[in-house]
Amino acid sequence: MQELLLHCRPGFEGEAAAEMQELANEQGIAGYPVTRDGSALVRFVCPQTGDAQQLMQAIDFRQLIFARQWALGSWVELDPEDRVSPIITACAQGPIASLFWLETADTNDGKALAALTKKLRGPLERALTKTRFVRPNKTELPRLHLCFESGQKVFVGWSWADNGAPWPMGIPRLRVPKEAPSRSTLKLEEAWHHFIPRDDWDMRLKAGMTAVDLGAAPGGWTWQLVNRLMKVIAVDNGPMDRRLMDSGQVEHVQADGYMYKPKRTVDWMVCDIVDKPARSSALAAKWITQKLCRELIINFKLPMKQRYPEVMQCLAHIQDALDEVGIKAELACKQLYTDREEVTCHIRVLR
Ligand SMILES: C[S@@+](CC[C@H](N)C(=O)[O-])C[C@H]1O[C@@H](n2cnc3c(N)ncnc32)[C@H](O)[C@@H]1O
Repeated sequence: MQELLLHCRPGFEGEAAAEMQELANEQGIAGYPVTRDGSALVRFVCPQTGDAQQLMQAIDFRQLIFARQWALGSWVELDPEDRVSPIITACAQGPIASLFWLETADTNDGKALAALTKKLRGPLERALTKTRFVRPNKTELPRLHLCFESGQKVFVGWSWADNGAPWPMGIPRLRVPKEAPSRSTLKLEEAWHHFIPRDDWDMRLKAGMTAVDLGAAPGGWTWQLVNRLMKVIAVDNGPMDRRLMDSGQVEHVQADGYMYKPKRTVDWMVCDIVDKPARSSALAAKWITQKLCRELIINFKLPMKQRYPEVMQCLAHIQDALDEVGIKAELACKQLYTDREEVTCHIRVLR
């Protein structure tokens, strides 16, 4: 088991590779990334036996901004006459798993393998159950990832539920609610799934909480807040969805989101204004350091070439601003599945 395989958004392989390299360097672990533009996968190879495993254990998956999912394992060549046997042989080299996921890269080439993975699911399930390499009732065991590059090659790897995304390929299965006014409603829902442990939802996304949505129109994000029975101030010069306004839970303020300040500290600020990341991160820092909100979610748009350094600079500015006023806060950032040329930042004041 010599390498880590990371899933990312197609086109962001360079960013995912750069951050893994930086984290490996910080840990003093020798390794190098192998990428192909547009492949949606990054291999991080550690030549020294045991190093890839040590690296995975040393890194908190939530630290990774551009990786959607990861696994520790190795590549296996497949015989088109019998693809199951080499996979079973490879599984004998690794830990027992609680479940298995059939994965591909999130690309058109990957999607073209859907028929193959569908055909293999039954035979693999039978073989993995019979050999007891997968034991479904043991939820504390790792997940087995079978990531097909082609009909001839598969990555056989493992990840641990407490240090990885909870979905195959890191892609959540979320549907746009019928009543939501825009598809971007999913961005806020996915952000909550990613940044807020499910057990905390009732406490941190509670009925009666107050929220400000900057750049709210037509109201996809506001819809999510209203759906959690919050009272929302939607700030945007553009028009809000009529039905959302009829809920009686939304006040529409036609103003500049950069100038707007609530009269009292609100529980949540969310912001989806398209702007330079430096402006967005300054706005986020202002809302936390001036105690305008307790928790926030904001997007950083990344149309530029130097995307990884740009994000790191934004996060460093926010951290500096927090340190300057002595506020302790959780600060995290992720390129979500629903994020395109952007990442989502989350900040939560710690009491
Ligand atoms: C991407 S859209 C937001 C979509 C919204 N989150 C949704 O789910 O429906 C960006 C919005 O930001 C608004 N906007 C841009 N600059 C703004 C500013 N300075 N203050 C307030 N809103 C702004 C635009 O009018 C636009 O409606």
